[in-house]
Amino acid sequence: MKVDGKAYRTIWPDTDGEAVHILDQTLFPHRFETVQLRTVEDAARAISDMLVRGAPLIGATASYGMTLAMRADASDAALSAAYDRLHATRPTAINLRWALDRMEAVLRPVPQGDRCTAAWAEAARICDEDVAINSAIGDNGLAIIRDIAAKKGGGTVNILTHCNAGWLATVDWGTATAPVYKAHDAGIPVHVWVDETRPRNQGAFLTAWELGRHGVPHTVIVDNAGGHLMQHGQVDMVIVGTDRTTARGDVCNKIGTYLKALAAQDNGVPFYVALPTPTIDHRVSDGVAEIPIEDRSGDEVRFISGRSGDGVTSVDLLPPGSAAANPSFDVTPARLVTALITEKGVVPATAEAISALK
Ligand code: MRU
Repeated sequence: MKVDGKAYRTIWPDTDGEAVHILDQTLFPHRFETVQLRTVEDAARAISDMLVRGAPLIGATASYGMTLAMRADASDAALSAAYDRLHATRPTAINLRWALDRMEAVLRPVPQGDRCTAAWAEAARICDEDVAINSAIGDNGLAIIRDIAAKKGGGTVNILTHCNAGWLATVDWGTATAPVYKAHDAGIPVHVWVDETRPRNQGAFLTAWELGRHGVPHTVIVDNAGGHLMQHGQVDMVIVGTDRTTARGDVCNKIGTYLKALAAQDNGVPFYVALPTPTIDHRVSDGVAEIPIEDRSGDEVRFISGRSGDGVTSVDLLPPGSAAANPSFDVTPARLVTALITEKGVVPATAEAISALK
């Protein structure tokens, strides 16, 4: 996507093969800065400190993390250590393990002297594939938005989204936002309700920023407003991303997604999940019982940051002594999902349909 007229991906290798560049998402929307990753430790910290985040981008960063490890030491022991270090960064998004497994499967059989070159090539392939996958998700989701627009006689299609499953969460396009960008570019009038997504405000900070840069009309709402808007006919569809979707179609995504799905069902609003097929974990079935939910620091609930004058300030919201808990993801059962929008087509959230995507 373009920022001030310049085309960017969210991650790209240095031309001299020494480092990888990312956008520091902890500074958004107040500052736009790139950061260089030079070691596997840099990549691991970028993931755990959320300089990069979003399931597909976590996978892409991990693949370059393996590459940076091979640049320093291409031994079998270093390969295993890099896998373990990167795998330990965040527990919920399955794209992390998917990317690491893929890198390991490519690198392990290669002679040590060739591993670094092979790693750069495979990481670049993972990124290019992510872009193509998300573009295809956009085309498949566009057909749904087009139908809704036709039923509304060409009226604006109001889409609610939660968290950031946008360009910034992937290498390019986004998952949930890809159909929105394609619809907007095709001249279909769309408007996005953006959940602010406490505690880290990925909606307010990231989704609003990228939609605004692309010129997509949008309105930021508090996380509790969605049900009310649905009751009053102001939401035509929900599209969210996912960090892991199970073999039977349960969807794990940013905390609060489940409540939106419940409200959508109660109000007859279609609830779509946009996902690249590498986000499917065919090894797990019951999402509530089996998916590890990341428990992040309570400080993310306690403190909130924002612009103040020329700088950025963080303020403490809670009374001294109050505890804060921060489960970061929840699971929406398959029965609440209207359909999955994948790069291979729009399919029901059922075991049969998901198995056919393998
Ligand atoms: O904690 P985050 O910011 O990594 O959570 C991101 C989300 O929940 C996204 O919606 C999900 O990864 C899908 S990204 C295309």
